[in-house]
Amino acid sequence: MVRSCQQKIPAWLYVGIPLLFIHFHSVTVSGAPLKQDAALDNAATVLNHSMSFVNRMETLLTMGNGSDVTLRVQTMNTDEVKVIQAHCLVLTLQSDVFEELLLNRNNTVLVITETPQCAAVFDKFVRYLYCGDISVRLDQAISLHKLATKYHVLGLQQGLTQYMTQHVSSDSPTGHVVSWYNYAQQIGDTALRDCCLQYLSWNLSSVLQSGEWVSIGEDLLLSLLQRSDLILQSEMELFEALEEWISQNQPDSKTVEGALRAIRYGMIPPQHLFRLQKQSPLMLRYYESVRDLLYLAFQFHSASPIQLAKYFDVNCSIFTPRNYLSSSWGSPWIINNPTRDDRSFSFQTQLGPSGHDSNKRVTWNGLFSPRWIPLSARSTYTELGAMQPTRTEGGRPRIIVTPATSSPDFAGVSFQKTVIVMARQQGKVVVRHVYNFHQSTEEAGDFLVDADLQRRVSDYLIDSSLYLHIVIKPLYHTLLVARK
Ligand SMILES: *[C@@H]1O[C@H](CO)[C@@H](O)[C@H](O)[C@H]1NC(C)=O
Ligand SMILES: *[C@@H]1O[C@H](CO)[C@@H](O)[C@H](O)[C@H]1NC(C)=O
Ligand SMILES: *[C@@H]1O[C@H](CO)[C@@H](O)[C@H](O)[C@H]1NC(C)=O
Ligand SMILES: *[C@@H]1O[C@H](CO)[C@@H](O)[C@H](O)[C@H]1NC(C)=O
Ligand SMILES: *[C@@H]1O[C@H](CO)[C@@H](O)[C@H](O)[C@H]1NC(C)=O
Repeated sequence: MVRSCQQKIPAWLYVGIPLLFIHFHSVTVSGAPLKQDAALDNAATVLNHSMSFVNRMETLLTMGNGSDVTLRVQTMNTDEVKVIQAHCLVLTLQSDVFEELLLNRNNTVLVITETPQCAAVFDKFVRYLYCGDISVRLDQAISLHKLATKYHVLGLQQGLTQYMTQHVSSDSPTGHVVSWYNYAQQIGDTALRDCCLQYLSWNLSSVLQSGEWVSIGEDLLLSLLQRSDLILQSEMELFEALEEWISQNQPDSKTVEGALRAIRYGMIPPQHLFRLQKQSPLMLRYYESVRDLLYLAFQFHSASPIQLAKYFDVNCSIFTPRNYLSSSWGSPWIINNPTRDDRSFSFQTQLGPSGHDSNKRVTWNGLFSPRWIPLSARSTYTELGAMQPTRTEGGRPRIIVTPATSSPDFAGVSFQKTVIVMARQQGKVVVRHVYNFHQSTEEAGDFLVDADLQRRVSDYLIDSSLYLHIVIKPLYHTLLVARK
């Protein structure tokens, strides 16, 4: 807490104001005395009273002793006013915007107008200017960030951006990620925006069940619906959530049509499609807008996708799976003490989402090695040259997922594997990383490369176990050719 205060308030404040300018000069005019001081300081002992210094600064603010400016903080569109007895020196020290305002004021009162949300945290903000530490709640981050931006308090601004990036997955009763996403979009902070977007995509199931879902804006909804990397139970879950969103938000019919056309109907089993077609009020109302897609989906389910591809040239994404967690698409795999030794594992999935294939099972064998040495590293030294990183000496983690048997049914299908790694963040289980293996699982050289599984507290482990979820996505490439 005190640390950031020390960065903010230069050491001369400890010494007292009268010494300020003398000391300041001796440092700026010539470099030599500074060097000497530094050498002598090595032998010195630090008497550290920064804690009590911060306490005094806080008292100075709360008691208002020696105040030379009164801040009148008015809440926009109300007659609410908060009065703070402040000190020009402190405000000027922290913010050039305050410096400017204080120079141009007429008397000892400075009137400031803020939105209700910013006015509510203004004392907190001013306290930070005095003490250099601040306690932040999820619902205060945006207002504080706005104040830090408005008054050019860069350290606080950066600290809050970092706080938000790290707390995207924190538990909050009303949800905060959607408002953070909107704010990041508004201020052009692409890193924070992408972080929010990734959280929403990777943890969609829990977002869909939260109150936050219906507060998602149209643009965000449509951009989520386009994504193939969404992690959720099933496409049906997404459709039901969309129904809920539409009934709460009542958007115009163009938006509804756009959203309905982004649902991947081929990924919904035909028995669910029947129900949806006949019983969903939304579908009954907008049937004409998606009739072609539903028809295509039923065709897809009725015969081998290879047959379908011979006759139809499909230019949409309804045959591209997302990352579905339901059991026909894959399986969880929990590996205790993953660094101990190699592990293997078997599970079954459907051959494909088409009604023609979904009853055919494929058995998969998974093999996990904590310290696998790539073939290239095992070959002769001269061939490798100096390029080979020493890290591979101990081997790196590898996962291989292969079908237990081969079958003529596999013709025309390629299985894309996605390995989802869960982790615990702020006490909650979240998706830590997603690895996609397009052809063979051999190809991903970066699998768990940053995970540091040796460390018991690795943030890729939950109670010393690796929580994986493997998703198998059958792709019929002949059906996925996009026409330009
Ligand atoms: C002084 O103490 C505070 C905690 O009381 C600590 O954070 C800070 O690093 C210390 N500073 C020095 C220069 O030792
Ligand atoms: C601040 O002012 C009050 C009276 O207004 C006085 O009692 C108190 O001692 C002062 N505090 C300091 C730290 O000077
Ligand atoms: C200062 O006073 C003048 C005249 O009373 C007024 O026109 C001006 O707006 C005031 N400036 C501020 C910053 O309050
Ligand atoms: C395929 O593309 C054509 C032309 O771009 C478009 O008219 C048609 O609606 C598309 N079909 C589907 C199923 O999206
Ligand atoms: C994130 O996703 C994982 C798996 O989908 C789930 O177990 C977890 O509860 C989710 N976390 C949050 C914070 O929603």
